[in-house]
Amino acid sequence: MKKQIRDIPPPPSRTASVIGTGSYVPERVLTNADLESMVETSDQWIVERTGIRERRLAAETEFTSHMAAKAAQAAMENAGVKPSEIDLILVGTVTPDNFFPSTACHVQRLIGAENAACMDLSAACSGFLYCLEIAHQFIAGGSMQTVLVIGADKLSSIVNWADRNTCVLFGDGAGAAILRHRPGSRGVVTTYMGSDGNLADILHMPGGGCACPTTAENIAQKLNTLHMNGRETYKQAVTSMMRAANTVLDRCGLTAQDIKCVIPHQANLRIIEAMADRMDLDLGKFHINLDKYGNTSAAAVAIALDEAARTGRFQIGDPILLVVFGGGLTYASSVIEW
Ligand code: ACO
Repeated sequence: MKKQIRDIPPPPSRTASVIGTGSYVPERVLTNADLESMVETSDQWIVERTGIRERRLAAETEFTSHMAAKAAQAAMENAGVKPSEIDLILVGTVTPDNFFPSTACHVQRLIGAENAACMDLSAACSGFLYCLEIAHQFIAGGSMQTVLVIGADKLSSIVNWADRNTCVLFGDGAGAAILRHRPGSRGVVTTYMGSDGNLADILHMPGGGCACPTTAENIAQKLNTLHMNGRETYKQAVTSMMRAANTVLDRCGLTAQDIKCVIPHQANLRIIEAMADRMDLDLGKFHINLDKYGNTSAAAVAIALDEAARTGRFQIGDPILLVVFGGGLTYASSVIEW
């Protein structure tokens, strides 16, 4: 008898765990003192208003894909996974090497992951967590076994280095995680993702796309650089990250006190302090590295996750909370059993 489509059994739903992490930051350090000689600012202003002391800048010939590939290699080593085992590469970035092909395709070439499908995702600083949830769903749905998730940005390539309102905030880097089913672990327990396109203009790069093509005139007006309404972004950051964090905690029936370690987006120490205050948590529960790297966009939470894991801030089985926001406006939070 002819087989019917409906006779094919659905794949079993499986959990997806982070089985390895890696990160990379470029060698060159740009300190607040260096910025004092570039724009009208001071180390004191930057430290008091943001908590940032220095950031890393990629070399001119070092692209987002190069940083992403280095983070990916570290994650594969950490997970004990060979490039040929990777089914999917997802790269969260707003500074791709090119419009196309995707940065994920460049990463595939650099690490030799010949069996992977590849794509980029644009959700600004929320990109890594958005990618993590997509990886989770592909693994849960049974179509993928091993997914490489990367957050990578070379924001120095789109920063207006004459604008003190933004240039002191950002840095370059990449972070990666390998997701796979690990029997007996809940892995990614739940993720909430949200967006508000009405707030697109508070943090954006107007030029470069079809709405504002790369012309000499547009470049002269600095439309191909990052523009930000800092105060509004700050306000929205705290509100949206709190909404996302509370939603995932509620869904799991956990309180913030049950969480072993919070890995927040690394934009501004005051934003993290405001969250700690609202969650009634000691700041020590948050992994913070923005003093060393500034805001590395999609890479920030991924680098922080790798650092926290490698320095033993949590162990297998511990519940951790990731929470991010970014241009779009986008925001997300995940509860993960490590
Ligand atoms: N050095 C010295 N003075 C400065 C600097 C600087 N680098 N930057 C701004 N100022 C001045 C301003 O011009 C302003 O002067 P004025 O009062 O004479 O106009 C004054 O300092 C205060 O400016 P505010 O904007 O009120 O400063 P605030 O305390 O809000 O801090 C900041 C600014 C750090 C940008 C803060 O608003 C912030 O962190 N916002 C969130 C930014 C963010 O997280 N962006 C990333 C989003 S994630 C992503 O997707 C990339």
